[in-house]
Amino acid sequence: MDPADRATLVENAQAILRENDRGGYTVPTRGLYPFQWNWDSCLTALGLGHQDEDRAWREIETLLAHQWPDGMVPHIVFHVPDEGYFPGPEIWRTNRPVPTSGITQPAVAGFAVRRLFERARDPAMAAERARPLLAAIDRWHQWFFAHRDPAGEGLVAIIHPWESGRDNSIDWDEALARVPTDGIEPYTRRDLQHADAAHRPTNAEYDRFVWLLERFRGLGWDNARLHDDSPFQVVDPGFNAILIRSCRDLAVLAERLGDAKLAARNHAFAEHGLVAMAGLWSVTDGQYLARDRTTGRLVGSRSVGGLLAAFAPIPQDRARALGHRIETLAGRSRHLVPSHDPADPRFDAKRYWRGPVWLIVNYMIADGLAAAGEAAIAARIRADSIDLITRSGFAEYYDPLTGEPCGGDRFTWTAAMVLEFLETSGEQAGEPG
Ligand code: SER
Repeated sequence: MDPADRATLVENAQAILRENDRGGYTVPTRGLYPFQWNWDSCLTALGLGHQDEDRAWREIETLLAHQWPDGMVPHIVFHVPDEGYFPGPEIWRTNRPVPTSGITQPAVAGFAVRRLFERARDPAMAAERARPLLAAIDRWHQWFFAHRDPAGEGLVAIIHPWESGRDNSIDWDEALARVPTDGIEPYTRRDLQHADAAHRPTNAEYDRFVWLLERFRGLGWDNARLHDDSPFQVVDPGFNAILIRSCRDLAVLAERLGDAKLAARNHAFAEHGLVAMAGLWSVTDGQYLARDRTTGRLVGSRSVGGLLAAFAPIPQDRARALGHRIETLAGRSRHLVPSHDPADPRFDAKRYWRGPVWLIVNYMIADGLAAAGEAAIAARIRADSIDLITRSGFAEYYDPLTGEPCGGDRFTWTAAMVLEFLETSGEQAGEPG
């Protein structure tokens, strides 16, 4: 890439990170998402670290400071009031000192902390900052297996689509159809004031999102009860791959920092999870699929959730097969990696997680594939990502057929991922330990 173009991209990405910085945390984008989001922050920390390591550690420290007593790390921390978002703290009513949501999000923290630690220019500071984070993330991992895997399968379920981060994925359609909508309090969506309605989830989906929230609130946010009570329990391969990768990374980091017990526990979570992941593989589809825990069946939906499984240290032949799937998708889509297969009639090029390309997902898939030795397809995803940003700017997501920017603008984690792609092109990506 031309050095001047590269310098401009880096400068623009850094400007977005500065703009969305609220002190100890970063908002995903102004207007649409005015608080701290869990996985946004952890991935953003990687981008921040290229400029300012202290600030990068602080991003994750701020998030984990709002961990619940039971170990859960909530998906939103409402640091300051803002009328522009629904559902705000007055809807969640989780009764926390600083209000938070009552559900969680993909557990990318263990991965992010190991990566920050390993590339630290200041190793002494990194060790000092990593130690307390290790303990907090370990508690979060234990919470997952205690409360979201009550039968000890080795894989956890999400109980709300928002937990996956892929809110309106086609993966959830069937399970979400079982969620009732009766009796919900009247509400006004705020997201449509900031983004095009055609790019966002539908009202029918929102009604079900709200029903689940109100149901869990009615149970006092007691995590010992929520999983079994929820009509929505889905085992998402992407969500589990992120958790498995974070368990493995946390274990490796704990070994380096001399905590053998924590390391052994997290290695065991990762090993058990990897064995159980085999049950989500679909020979017919050539990729992983979600499993609906209430029916026990795999969900016939070829989404990026099944490709994101590459982020975990899955068997080599599976990684190769996922690489092939992505090559097939490249024949159906101008930009990699669409969040759903364009050959599926339910694919929707602009609607959030039903088709669009997301840079964070590209980053994690490329990282995992590179670690598995699938260098060519990993390099193609990276190059495609940079090309997309160069053409279309730092959007929340993109139409995979045209490259049109969609959703929110000047988006924090998109900027962070661009810095990751540009600043680490020589780094051995994703050695999962
Ligand atoms: N992604 C959700 C939203 O759009 C919240 O996590 O509000």
